[in-house]
Amino acid sequence: MLNDRLDRLSDYPFRRLAELLGPARPGDLVMSIGEPQHAPPPMVAETLAANAGGWGKYPPLDGTPEFRRAVRDWLTRRFGLPEGLVDPDRAVLPVAGTREALYLIAQVACPGAWRPVALLPNPFYQVYWGAAVMAGAEPLLVPAGPEQGFLPDFESIDPAILDRTAIAWACSPANPQGAVASLDWLKRAVTLARRHDFLLCVDECYSEIWFDAPPAGALQACAALGGGLDNVLVFHSLSKRSSVPGLRSGFVAGDERALAAFARLRSYGGASTPLPVIAAAAALWRDETHVEQNRALYRAKMDSAEEILGGRFGFARPQGGFFLWLDVGDGEAAARTIAEKAAIRVLPGAYLARADEDGVNPGRPYIRVALVHDLDTTRDALWRIAAVLEG
Ligand SMILES: Cc1ncc(COP(=O)(O)O)c(C=O)c1O
Repeated sequence: MLNDRLDRLSDYPFRRLAELLGPARPGDLVMSIGEPQHAPPPMVAETLAANAGGWGKYPPLDGTPEFRRAVRDWLTRRFGLPEGLVDPDRAVLPVAGTREALYLIAQVACPGAWRPVALLPNPFYQVYWGAAVMAGAEPLLVPAGPEQGFLPDFESIDPAILDRTAIAWACSPANPQGAVASLDWLKRAVTLARRHDFLLCVDECYSEIWFDAPPAGALQACAALGGGLDNVLVFHSLSKRSSVPGLRSGFVAGDERALAAFARLRSYGGASTPLPVIAAAAALWRDETHVEQNRALYRAKMDSAEEILGGRFGFARPQGGFFLWLDVGDGEAAARTIAEKAAIRVLPGAYLARADEDGVNPGRPYIRVALVHDLDTTRDALWRIAAVLEG
C-alpha cells in the first residue's frame, strides 16, 4: 500500500540521534540542530502585526510583487549582478523554507520516463537524498572530503554519467563542513550543467554567515559567464540569515523555465507563504543592519571556537556557516560521551553522509557542533566539549 521508496529514507539523522542518545534530558544543551537561537529582528513581529489582515486570505503561490522585487534587489546588490539579469516575475519564487523547495525541485528536474542520475556531495544535507530517491532518481554520491577541499568535484564524473544526470545539489557555504565554493568553482559547475543539461541546484542558505569575505553565488557565476540563468537555481532562506527558522520563508531564483515548471508543480502540492509572512520577509530582505549584527555574533563565536579548540580535534575554522566539523576519530562514540559527561548533544558526522562504494562513510570520524546559542553559552559548552574529548 505504501510507497516502497520510503524504505530508503529510514535513517534521517535526528531519528538516528534519538536512538543513539535517547530523548534529551532536562538541562541538555542542544548543539546538534542548526536552529539559530539569536533573537529575531523586531521588524518581524511589527510587520506581521501590521499585515494581520492577510491572515484572512489564501496567499498566492508566487507571493507579492513587493516580495519578488525585494528579492531581485537583494540578489542584485549582494552578488553584484547586472541590472535586468533577474526578472522578479519570472526568475523568483517564494518558498516555505528551502527544505521543501530543495526536496520538491527533484520532481521538476527528474524525467518520469527513465531513471536519471542525481548528484549529491558526500557528506550532505539529508534532504537531497530523500528528494532524489522519491523522484525515482539514482543518487550518486560525489566525495566532498578534505582531499576535495570539502566540495564535490563534479568534473571528475564520467561524461556518460553526466549525460544521464538530471539534477545536482551543491551547498555553499557547505553544511556540514563550512567550505565555500569560489566563483571559479561555481562557473565550472554551471558550465558543466549546461554542457550536460542538468539542473544545478545551489543551496546558499548559509551565504550570509561568513567571516572574511562574502561567499560568491551561483547567479554571480552566471553573470560572469555572460548570458542568462539557464540550468541554475539558487536557494536562499531567512532561517539562518535573519534567525527566523520558525517563519518558514525562503526563495528560489534562477532558470525561468525550471521555475515556471516548479510553480506549476507547487500549485498542486506546494505550501504557499501567508501574506503577513511574505510582508515580513520582504522587509527582512530589504534590511542588512540586522544581518550584519547577526554575522558579528557568529564571528565572535567562531573566534572563541578557534581560541578554545584551535590546533586540536582536527579543528579548522570554517569559511562560512555556523557549524564546527571536528575530526574526533569516532563521531558516534564522541557524541555519546559528550552527551553523558557534558550534557551536550552534538551530531555524529556519519549521520550526514553515506557509505561510498568501498563501504566507507566519510563522515564517520567527525562530529558536527552547531554554534547557535549565545556567546557565553557557546564558550562554556566548547570548554566542556574540549575537556571531555581530551578525556
Ligand atoms: C544546508 C541546508 N539547506 C537547507 C536548510 C533548510 O532550511 P530552511 O528550510 O529553514 O530554509 C537547512 C537547514 O538546516 C540546511 O542546513
